[in-house]
Amino acid sequence: MEKGVPKYLVTVLLFVLTCSLASTSDPSPLQDFCVATKDSDEFVNEKFCNDPKRVTANDFFFSGLDKPRDTSNRQGSNVTVVNVKNLASLNTLGISVAHIDFAPHGLNPPPTHPCGTKVRVVLLDTLYIGFVTSNTNNCLFTKVLDKGDIFVFPIGLIHFEWNVGNTNALVFAALSN
Ligand SMILES: *[C@@H]1O[C@H](CO)[C@@H](O)[C@H](O)[C@H]1NC(C)=O
Repeated sequence: MEKGVPKYLVTVLLFVLTCSLASTSDPSPLQDFCVATKDSDEFVNEKFCNDPKRVTANDFFFSGLDKPRDTSNRQGSNVTVVNVKNLASLNTLGISVAHIDFAPHGLNPPPTHPCGTKVRVVLLDTLYIGFVTSNTNNCLFTKVLDKGDIFVFPIGLIHFEWNVGNTNALVFAALSN
C-alpha cells in the first residue's frame, strides 16, 4: 500500500490544474493549421483541411489590402474582409482582418450580427465611433479617433463608425472570428 496522497487525488488535482491553466489562454487547435480546401478527407469548421504536405507559404498570404475601394454607395463606406473565404489558412484560427474605406462623411452602419471582438486602427482622417452596452442600461460609449488611434468593440455589442472628416478615411480592423 502506498503512503501519502491517494492516487485518485493526484489525478483530480492534475485535472483541475490543467483546466485552470487552459482557461488562461484561447483554446488551441489540435493541429498547427487547417488550410481550407475543397478536396481532402479531413473536415474541420465546415471546411476540409488541405494535406499539410501540399500547403505552401502562399496559403498564408494575401495581397491588395492597400487598394482603396469604391465608396460611391449610399453609406459612403466599403468593407473588405479577409477571412477563411479568401485566405484559406485562417480556417479554425479564430481571427480575421478587414480594411474599411470611408468617403467624406461616410458611415459604416451597425451590423445585424455583431459577432467577435473587433479592434479598429485609424490610418487616415477622423472617425466618430461608438458602441452600446447591453447590461448597464444601454450606455453609449463614443470617441473621436484620429490617425493612429485604436478603439475596441467588445464581442456582441452594437457599434457604428462615421467619418466626420472632410477627406477619405481608412481603417484597419482585426476581428476575433
Ligand atoms: C467595394 O469596392 C469594390 C472595389 O472597388 C467594388 O467592386 C464593390 O462593389 C464595392 N462595394 C460596395 C458595397 O460599394
